[in-house]
Formats: sequence, C-alpha cells, structure tokens
Amino acid sequence: MNNYISKVTTPKISIAPMVDRTDRHFRYFLRGITKKSLLYTEMITSQAILNGDLNKLLDFNKIEKPLSLQIAGSTPDEIYEAVKLADSWDYDEVNLNVGCPSNRVSGNSMGACLMAYPELVKEMLFAMKEATNKPVTVKHRIGIDGTGILPDNISPKIINRYDNMVKFVDTISAAKIDRFTIHARIAILKGLSPRENREIPPIRYEDVYKFKKDFPHLNIDINGSIKTPDDIENHLKYVDGVMIGRASYEDPFMLRSADKFFDSNLDSNISRADIINWVLPYVEDLENKGENPNLILKHTLALFFNEKGTKQWKQLISPPFKDTKASERVKLALKSLPEETLYFK
Ligand SMILES: Cc1cc2nc3c(=O)[nH]c(=O)nc-3n(C[C@H](O)[C@H](O)[C@H](O)COP(=O)(O)O)c2cc1C
Repeated sequence: MNNYISKVTTPKISIAPMVDRTDRHFRYFLRGITKKSLLYTEMITSQAILNGDLNKLLDFNKIEKPLSLQIAGSTPDEIYEAVKLADSWDYDEVNLNVGCPSNRVSGNSMGACLMAYPELVKEMLFAMKEATNKPVTVKHRIGIDGTGILPDNISPKIINRYDNMVKFVDTISAAKIDRFTIHARIAILKGLSPRENREIPPIRYEDVYKFKKDFPHLNIDINGSIKTPDDIENHLKYVDGVMIGRASYEDPFMLRSADKFFDSNLDSNISRADIINWVLPYVEDLENKGENPNLILKHTLALFFNEKGTKQWKQLISPPFKDTKASERVKLALKSLPEETLYFK
C-alpha cells in the first residue's frame, strides 16, 4: 500500500452526497443545525460540467462551506477538464463517485462499476490531482457484484472479499488522495434498485474497521445506515470520520449534536425554533426574489420527526401557498407549534 500521508484532516462528520437532496437549499438549512460538518453537493457528472450552465451547476453560498464537490465521470480526460473548469469555484475539495449503483450511472460507466477498473480510477484520480490543488477524495464501496452488467472480459465480476477491497485501494492510493469514504455495503449492479441496495446485502462495518487498522496512515471515513449520535460515537472509535446520508434528511434535528464531535466545547444548544428562525430569512429572500419558497421548505419537512407537531409543521409549510405567504406560515408555526418540541434542546 502506498505510504502517502495526507495533510488533510478528515472531518469527524460529513453529510453524504445525495441527488435531489443535497442541493444548495438543503445545505443552507443544514448549516442552521451543524456549522462544522463537511457537506457534499449532489453528484454532478463531468459531462454536465462540460456542457451545462456552470453557474447554475456550481454556484453556492459561502455559508455552506466546508463543502465538497462530488463528480461522477468515466474517463481521465473528461474528468480533468471538468475539475479544471470547476476549480475557480471555492469548493474545499473534489470527490470522485465510485459508489453509485444505479443503472443509469453504471450504464454510462460511472459510479460503483468503476471498482472493476482500478487502473482507470487511479488515472482519473491522477487527472483530478493535476487539475486542482484542492484535496481530492474518493467515495467507494467495500465491493461490487457486477454480474450481468460488467462486460465479458472483466473478471472477477464479484468483488466482495476484504482482500479485493484492499487490492482496489492499493491500486488507486498511488494517486495519493486525501480520503477514502467507504460505504460498507456491496453495490449490486443488477437486479436491485439503488433504494433496495441501501438495505441489502447486509452492512459490513468490520471490513472498514479492519481496513483502518491495517492501514492506519490512510484517512478513512465510514458510511452506511448510521443514524444516531450514539452510532457516530461508536464508529469514531475505529475510523477517522463518519458520513451520514438518509438520516440527515429523515431526522435532521439529530444533527444538532454533530459539532460536539469536532470540539466538545461546541455542544450545540439549539432548538427547532432556532432552526426555523435560521430558515425564515431565507424563505423571505426567496419570496422577495420571486422564487419558490418550497425550494428550502421541502427539505425541512422532517424537522419534527417522531415528535409532537410533525403533522402540523408539514401542513403549514407545504404548498400551495395561495392565501398566506409561506413566510407568514413559518411565523405562524413559531407561534402555534407545541412549545415542548419547538424549544426542546
Ligand atoms: C436520494 C439519494 C441520493 C443519493 N445520491 C448519491 C450521489 O449523488 N452520490 C453518491 O456518491 N451517493 C449517493 N447516494 C448514496 C449516499 O451518499 C450514501 O452512500 C447512502 O445513502 C448510504 O448512506 P446512509 O445509509 O447513511 O443513507 C444517494 C443516496 C440517496 C438516499
């Protein structure tokens, strides 16, 4: 294994890249809950960067920082051009997606299927490093099952043992990248939807723990079904950082304790009312600009997850906003939701 020691420290907590979730509005909302966690963009393909509206794709509010730009691509040349173009945006790092199992992504030779092509991934990472001085990181799986989707000349099609993953990382670590975020579940490239593949097959945290133990000089982040502060605390005994996906969306208030994992003095004493007050000026700003306030409000629907007031909050902030402006409804929520959940810290 390459002995490169990154000078970049791994954030204790990061919020996973999620298409249709981690857009700039959701990231702004999250910053009202955790100031320290590393946030990721949604996956953006190199093709989109090369052919799309760059400002629309890449602009963000500096309040979202630290922020990682996640790119998906399939060739070193294309990814080089895309990272070069994105380099003038002030992202804190650039991340390569080697984890997405969806048919559309695999069909374009991007995402998790790339685990079957370690040399290509290495070249892509080298290309990224050449295109930017920012840290370059990768998000991949513990393995893949490419049966029925990988071409005949690729063997093995099932990469599912610990030593397979070591071999993969050994090859790509020649590019001296700064962090490996490992989703501790095999990606099944055919026969399961991405949604099903987030529950099946069973998660294998032990592989990731062992990996950190065997290669302590590498920065290792663990991902997969991590839901609570207790889960986070436990994982941090074994790895450098924890990446949280769905739980950040399904129970965002859980993240109020995230910053204390960075600095115990930062125990966030924050209530749902504080978070709503953080969102309110953003809603008003959208309204003043004639934009749809639901761009951010839809991301806050689960703020009262499993608590009193959840139904009322959802009703108040859901469109259509005909008779009362969305911002007025948010203000009404601050007056009318149960105080015990609104001000609970
Ligand atoms: C709606 C949704 C969209 C996702 N989009 C991406 C993506 O763009 N890039 C990526 O690397 N992973 C993506 N993922 C996978 C997550 O980043 C994460 O690896 C996965 O959800 C497992 O973490 P969790 O169990 O904490 O949710 C997505 C997951 C979800 C639920």
